[in-house]
Amino acid sequence: MQEPKASREKFSSGLAVFFATLGSAVGLGNIWKFPYLTGNNGGGAFLLVYFLCILLVGLPVMVSEFYIGRKTRKNAIGAFEQLKPKTAWKHIGSMGVFASGLIMFFYSCVAGWVYFYLFKALMGTFSNITLETAKSHFGSVVVNPVTPILWQMIVMTVVSFILIMGVQKGIEKITKTLMPLLFLLIIICDIRALTLPGASEGLNFLFHVDFGAVTGTVILTALGLAFFKLSLGMGTMVTYSSYFTEGDNLFSTAAKVAFADLAVSMLAGMAVFPAVFAFGMEPSAGPGLLFMTIPLVFSKMLFGNVLLVAFFFLSSIAATTAMLSLVEVPVAYLSEERGLSRKASVFVSSVVIVLFGTLASLSADSSSLLGGITFFGKGFFDLFDFISSNIILPLGGLLIALFVGYAANKDDIKQELMNRGHLNNGWMIDLFFFIIRYITPALLILVFLNSLGILS
Ligand code: PHE
Repeated sequence: MQEPKASREKFSSGLAVFFATLGSAVGLGNIWKFPYLTGNNGGGAFLLVYFLCILLVGLPVMVSEFYIGRKTRKNAIGAFEQLKPKTAWKHIGSMGVFASGLIMFFYSCVAGWVYFYLFKALMGTFSNITLETAKSHFGSVVVNPVTPILWQMIVMTVVSFILIMGVQKGIEKITKTLMPLLFLLIIICDIRALTLPGASEGLNFLFHVDFGAVTGTVILTALGLAFFKLSLGMGTMVTYSSYFTEGDNLFSTAAKVAFADLAVSMLAGMAVFPAVFAFGMEPSAGPGLLFMTIPLVFSKMLFGNVLLVAFFFLSSIAATTAMLSLVEVPVAYLSEERGLSRKASVFVSSVVIVLFGTLASLSADSSSLLGGITFFGKGFFDLFDFISSNIILPLGGLLIALFVGYAANKDDIKQELMNRGHLNNGWMIDLFFFIIRYITPALLILVFLNSLGILS
């Protein structure tokens, strides 16, 4: 027997649905991945390719996940089991629970560094920083066997507290408060960066249009990025949409989230690169950009320390709201399928994340304590990242597209996608089915082969 739907928590309004889902999409990816990949792979031309990837893969998979979640109002594994009982389809959900763990192992480690840098910025540590001290600061953080793990635990404590409060009082309340604040902080950073002399060079790096740079690998990079950015392919969106209100039009929610996430990425790029170029630094990606270049260039500006606090605060918000959605995947599973209380589910998930996350913390650099242990040439940190982002997410996305395109009941899907809001979207549903059956799987098979190195 299905449980009465009323016994399960839901978000309280369409606005809450929007902010929570956006909170999942907006994360560290917007700050250290997106701007750099855009600048380095053809600028405006890359944006166009990324946009097409969102339209042809990102949005269709997101809508599919929304259908699965809201229709069943179950966790990632239970949802597939309800739609296709006693089949192997539920293992899409099992893979998702596994992937959310893997991502959290390294994501919580980086989030720990972000919190630590926010603390340092608040203490004024970066006021007289030079390139050498910026490097040695970060170098000593990465190889330190104790401090990063303590910060990782602080991160997990914060995330756990919010999750224990529940869907409405925890996730909804926090994302509704913090997402608008994130926009405000990023716009303040933008205004300062864009008024620096020489800012235009940074904008040029980001927005120049170079179609010559768009190779096959670049297209596949854009596709992979769309996946990680929009939290797709691993049950996060299935889990969140199981809390959606009945009235949301799933197409428009997906479009709004993807568009707002793109806006955050561009605003982040517009805060970072003008500053980087104004001070004659080289643009880079990943930890180097976030933890060395940014403290260095921001500290050189007027009001630099205040801006650094703003920047690391907004990065902490982005990381935290993304982690809520990652950890909610196992929490919903454990509490609904394994009979644990919500509190116990959060506790078990967090302990597992801290235990394995310690392995990531201790292998973040080749000179870290466990940095020498490698599998297929990768330490734990890189391995967790590689297996989750390059293998499980595209594979999960492909299977979700096949599930919704071929296995699930078409009338049932139509019903869930129609009749909400004021949209008469019959043509959209036909288009959706065409894309999810033919285009999305074909493109995903390409990404998948590429990420395994078969196509490159
Ligand atoms: N979308 C998040 C980011 O850009 C990461 C994420 C991936 C979150 C998968 C949830 C699930 O940082």
